[in-house]
Amino acid sequence: MVLYMCGIIGCVGNENTLEVLLDGLTALEYRGYDSAGVAVFDNTGKLRMVKDFGRVSKITQEVLEIKSSSCGIGHTRWATHGAVTKENSHPHGSEGLQIVHNGIIENHAHLKKELTDIGYSFKSETDTEVAALLLDYYSKQSESKLEAIGKTVKRLVGSYALGIVFADEPGVIYAVRKDSPLIIGIGEGANYIASDMTALLKYTREHYSLENGDIARITAQDIEIYNTGERITRKKLYADWDRSAAEKGGYPHFMLKEIYESPDAVRSTLRVRIVDMLPDFSADELDEGIFERISRVYIVACGTAMHAGLIGKSRLEAYAKLPASVEIASEFRYNPPMLSSDDLVIVISQSGETADSLAALRLSKQMGAKTLAVVNVVGSSIAKEADFVLYTYAGPEIAVASTKAYSVQSALITLLAVRAGMLRGFIDESFAKTLVCELYIDAPSAIEKMLERADEIKECAEMLCESDDAFFIGRGIDYALACEGSLKLKEISYIHSEAYAAGELKHGTISLITEGVPVIALASVSALYDKMESNIREVASRGAKVILITSDTREYGYTMVRLPEISERVSFLPVACVLQLLAYYTSVMRGCDVDKPRNLAKSVTVE
Ligand code: AGP
Repeated sequence: MVLYMCGIIGCVGNENTLEVLLDGLTALEYRGYDSAGVAVFDNTGKLRMVKDFGRVSKITQEVLEIKSSSCGIGHTRWATHGAVTKENSHPHGSEGLQIVHNGIIENHAHLKKELTDIGYSFKSETDTEVAALLLDYYSKQSESKLEAIGKTVKRLVGSYALGIVFADEPGVIYAVRKDSPLIIGIGEGANYIASDMTALLKYTREHYSLENGDIARITAQDIEIYNTGERITRKKLYADWDRSAAEKGGYPHFMLKEIYESPDAVRSTLRVRIVDMLPDFSADELDEGIFERISRVYIVACGTAMHAGLIGKSRLEAYAKLPASVEIASEFRYNPPMLSSDDLVIVISQSGETADSLAALRLSKQMGAKTLAVVNVVGSSIAKEADFVLYTYAGPEIAVASTKAYSVQSALITLLAVRAGMLRGFIDESFAKTLVCELYIDAPSAIEKMLERADEIKECAEMLCESDDAFFIGRGIDYALACEGSLKLKEISYIHSEAYAAGELKHGTISLITEGVPVIALASVSALYDKMESNIREVASRGAKVILITSDTREYGYTMVRLPEISERVSFLPVACVLQLLAYYTSVMRGCDVDKPRNLAKSVTVE
């Protein structure tokens, strides 16, 4: 299932439709967005459309100038395809119809060419407009709107929740669902559609949750739902939660919701870059020639993004034999390596606005290096200024502590490393397919398996929550993971925590290991099990409370979280999930503000 990234709202039969749509879009603002729009029938039955980039408030005045309406759809866009512009805002359509969409149409380029060849022209860069004009095409070849919609969605590959209105059918909304959530709100003399109940709680709590393949025809009095051409019924549901809980999708905190979104976030990010189980970055307009020309890679970022860079370093060196170093952006700026055009600087940033990372990007370009951004926010400063950009499709990350962004960043750079290894002649297609399958199929499933065992990790958190100090130890990629586990714990539970290369402990830090000090030991690399075992015994013999996260099947006699069966090449993803949950539960047990920890901001746009 692809993560929802945009917000959809629709209403039919309510005399205050304009206010309902604007209020619903405002309620959906928590999801993060960069533009908004509505398509409504005015009091003469004419279909009107208002949209722009920016906040909902930017279109409010123009919308309210429309003389009343009792039917319409609205949308907040979290950009995935196409820059943040008015033309790319939703709705999209033609004289005959307007569509709002949440999800990703993967075969949009192919369909766009087909439509262009038969005379259609496009105003936007979006995949949504392709779906809208395809529907326009089929609506001229079909007996009914439902038939046209059925023909259209049969051609779409990807994920979509669609809200649709036809100019010649005032008072009717159509809704379609495949992979992206979409609900129908059941009102009194009015009915609604929305991406989630947050937008509708003021008007109704009764609703249907559409399933994949459902196509609904909704009027003020009636809701018809069809699937594979047959009329069906869906169970009537009742939302008994408040708006704040609705925003979190029923989770107690955004952070937990985002940890649970990680498997789909990884799938969403990788799916559009895999063809026949091989890495394919052609849609990213990436000049792959750089991987044959460069001699070194510098990965520059802050905090969790920098830790994802540590994973990226290990994969670029392993698969592409490319020397890579990871630089803290705030240090890089004042102590830059001697960069040249033979160097590639990869800047990783969830927000795309981190001041230190942006400054490091600018300095890299001034010094002549090629720059590649890995960013989660379309149209952000870092995305716009880098020579190349690879967007992650994790959807908005609201919690200050970064979780799903870390997972998608490290997964995406790993996929890039496989591609670079192929280009540099170190990886053949057969091995590449193995690696892609491990990353795209096995790893998200392994994360899901760990999520099912969250209670085990909650028990480990009980061992931590009374402590003032904690240590994370590991070797190789486990040391990189230890750095992230330590940051996660300290930033949301306020426990002083340090990550240490396990072999380094005896050179000083072990003096801090006393009775009851928790040590989280990571051992996901089989070649290092024995070395790690001796490090664990070193700390245990000094009274440490050991929590061992490992893929080793042997018994150690300590509290253990055993990883699911998975290749060591991608076990960093389930390990990261364990560390994120460990930090989350510890923070909750300590009564901390999980989503908004003290002193921290989601995006550090100041130096
Ligand atoms: C991670 O949990 C923190 N919120 C912080 O370290 C964050 O990763 C860092 O500030 C970088 O942010 P960015 O990815 O938006 O650039």
